[in-house]
Amino acid sequence: MSRDPGFERKAATRVAEAGRDGDAAFVAASVGVHRASTVLFDSLAATEAAGAAVAAGRRRATTYGTVGTPTTMALMDALCEIEGAGHAVRASLMPSGLAAITTALLAMLEPGDHLLVTDSSYGPTRVFADGMLARLGVQTTYYDPTIGAGIEALLRPETKLIWLESPGSYTFEVQDVPAICALARRRGIVTMIDNTWASPVFARPFDWGVDASVLALTKYWGGHSDVLMGAVVVRETLWPMLWNAVRQLGQCASGDDAWLVLRGLRSIDARMRQHQSNALEVARWLEARAEVASVLYPALPSHPQHELWRRDFSGASGLLSFELDATLFRRATSEPVQQAQRERAALAAFCEKRRHFAIGYSWGGFESLVMPARIDRMRTAKPWAGGPLVRLHVGLEDIADLIGDLDEGFNAIRGALEG
Ligand SMILES: Cc1ncc(COP(=O)(O)O)c(C=O)c1O
Repeated sequence: MSRDPGFERKAATRVAEAGRDGDAAFVAASVGVHRASTVLFDSLAATEAAGAAVAAGRRRATTYGTVGTPTTMALMDALCEIEGAGHAVRASLMPSGLAAITTALLAMLEPGDHLLVTDSSYGPTRVFADGMLARLGVQTTYYDPTIGAGIEALLRPETKLIWLESPGSYTFEVQDVPAICALARRRGIVTMIDNTWASPVFARPFDWGVDASVLALTKYWGGHSDVLMGAVVVRETLWPMLWNAVRQLGQCASGDDAWLVLRGLRSIDARMRQHQSNALEVARWLEARAEVASVLYPALPSHPQHELWRRDFSGASGLLSFELDATLFRRATSEPVQQAQRERAALAAFCEKRRHFAIGYSWGGFESLVMPARIDRMRTAKPWAGGPLVRLHVGLEDIADLIGDLDEGFNAIRGALEG
């Protein structure tokens, strides 16, 4: 298209064309937001060349907003550079972390394939495996997250993919990811990990040997609880399969959301260190409480896989769980129904009316959150045998305020059980 600004235009044409020339000489520290569906070309030859580059999945090639804009491409480049540091990887963006999980799995699996999923995976990952994947003819086996190289016994000729999440959701088991990946590589099996908990600040999954890292950018990358996004980062060998699925499914992210994630990313290192420092203090304080049977946080020496965590991770995030001492509820009654009621009353007393820990499902933002963890139906390979679990996201608030709030929570439990 050639547009001469001096050319006389009718009013309707003017509103469509005015002010679109931009200022190529202006350079800002932060990437600009591109809100684009349509991408314009100077010639048919340029259109065809871009189309071929997109079909081949070339980096930075685009023909349309769903494929990429300068803002989404900046975030994809950042993902390759940060999550895939030192490795040949490619990244794609999805509208949520869950969409990243389901797209990554759909991209690789076919009817007749066997999938191994850690028992400690994020609940909706299981729902997808048991629901849509089962319907498509993919069989799933759940494995004990602490199985390590013992996973070999579960492999079948048709095992195509091993799904990992370390530490696991709610129970925070640390997996021996390098051992599982080494075995999988020898057998030609793809490995994928949900690396949302540690973020690239504290974990380097491609150094451990995984083929794909799947991230909920909603959490620590965004960091401010105001954006939903996911990403799949894969070794280049897997890129054609992933790209094919991303294009067929129309997965993409908006420029505004990509910009929010890029903004959050600039402070992720500092935030993660503060989350870790606050969470460690909270975890140590919880460990000393009489009402607490155990604290599930890999950075604590009491954690069963603490040594594995020290070997593979360089830090711990702000998300942890603790197990309430079940004898708290048993003391006054032996009736199971009354016991369940007392347990619920105690959990409500602890979680409700906190000054700083709000009740909320997500995590990874700046703020502290609390949520009872109901995992009875989310474990099959290694059922949870402990007491009621409470998950905390320890935010960036002052540590004394946070501990004071939890202290009041335990007082509220006593009040509820005695009342
Ligand atoms: C470990 C883990 N992975 C993935 C997700 C999904 O992320 P999103 O909320 O962006 O769909 C979550 C959400 O809680 C999560 O906890």
